[in-house]
Amino acid sequence: MPVIAIIGAQWGDEGKGKVVDMLAEKSSVVVRFAGGDNAGHTVINPRGHFKLHLIPSGIFYPEVTCVIGNGVVLNPASLIKEINQLAANSIDTSRLVISDRAHLIMPYHRLLDELEEKARGKKAIGTTLRGIGPAFTDKVARMGIRAADLLDKRTLRQRLKTVLENKNMILERVYGVDPLSVDDMYREYAGYADILRPNIKDSVELIGAALDRGEVVLLEGAQGAMLDIDFGTYPFATSSSPLSGNASLGSGIAPNRIDRILGVYKAYCTRVGSGPLPTELHDEMGHRIREQAQEYGTTTGRARRCGWFDGVAARHSARINGFTGAVITRLDVFDGFPSLKVCVAYRIGDRQINRFPSSISELQKCEPVYEEMPGWLADTTTVRRWQDLPAEAKNYIEKLSSLMGCCVNYACIGPERAQTIEVNPLF
Ligand code: IMP
Repeated sequence: MPVIAIIGAQWGDEGKGKVVDMLAEKSSVVVRFAGGDNAGHTVINPRGHFKLHLIPSGIFYPEVTCVIGNGVVLNPASLIKEINQLAANSIDTSRLVISDRAHLIMPYHRLLDELEEKARGKKAIGTTLRGIGPAFTDKVARMGIRAADLLDKRTLRQRLKTVLENKNMILERVYGVDPLSVDDMYREYAGYADILRPNIKDSVELIGAALDRGEVVLLEGAQGAMLDIDFGTYPFATSSSPLSGNASLGSGIAPNRIDRILGVYKAYCTRVGSGPLPTELHDEMGHRIREQAQEYGTTTGRARRCGWFDGVAARHSARINGFTGAVITRLDVFDGFPSLKVCVAYRIGDRQINRFPSSISELQKCEPVYEEMPGWLADTTTVRRWQDLPAEAKNYIEKLSSLMGCCVNYACIGPERAQTIEVNPLF
């Protein structure tokens, strides 16, 4: 039985939460494999309207085990807040598993994220200030503290003492701010350990056993391919890899066990924070898309930058992820638009290119080459079958499919589970 990875194909916020919520019905395990509480997954289902940052979007099904994988950086305070919010809505979180290998976000990570952003001045990345970059930096620098360290309080204190000697030097000497106290931090994290202890497990064994029983496992991505640390718009990127390759590394599932890789694309593009967005609209149209779609960040509330669908970035994303299929979300946002534009290439001076440049300076010179398509003056939100979509909407999806270079499995025409049209079967 299959393992399905669900991957953000653009700059994040594509609607992965809805797709996972929908597919989780037939799954037994859902694993988050990257990012941290910088992510914001909105899920609207019969249980209510939820904003998840760390907990996998499969949590609403009583039989599904949800795993925060080793590839995630975990802020225990955020997680406990999220668990309590779900509990207040009678959602059972007892099947939540935290990989003992997941790294923890510590108070100095958040502080350093803020200080580093301030120091960048006008060149700030526009991070979510959740401490993501500094936490992944420490992981690679072998200075991280992992969930397993919460299980042994003596190790936790020793580890904190060693790491804080280094961090306090940076805080005091580089940034001129007060040092942090080992005792205070130990007390805070020992408290989190008492709450989260039952959830911290060896997730590799647990997931492996589910695979051996032939159960369906979903790998839930966070952020999007264009924010990838290698293949995104570096340095305006996040600090982990949202790509399908990392779905394997961030969960402990071998690459050859992943059967389907679904790319989630919005029918247009959005981005939060700084960095290139070649099709960005600074005019009335950008404003119209933002207001119609309510494009404001789930995690930070920031207004998202909006633009037309970028076929060059879409193909780049499909290629590096190996998408077996795509989901187009938010198609309904274009209901009532008389015409739409799609970027089919970039122009730099008198040259036309079809590849996504790796350098920021080259990207900044790229002008989108658009094709204009007729829109549809109809309400698609109640449509449930492909054949009932307006011809212009079908053409639009087919155009995106040809630009991406992969088939479309689903189109979403609203946030509810039922507002989903099967375009091509997933299996
Ligand atoms: P960080 O991940 O907080 O370090 O932020 C780095 C960049 O990624 C910033 O431009 C953020 O706005 C962006 N980013 C991080 N998480 C998300 C997300 O879940 N959706 C969209 N953008 C994100």
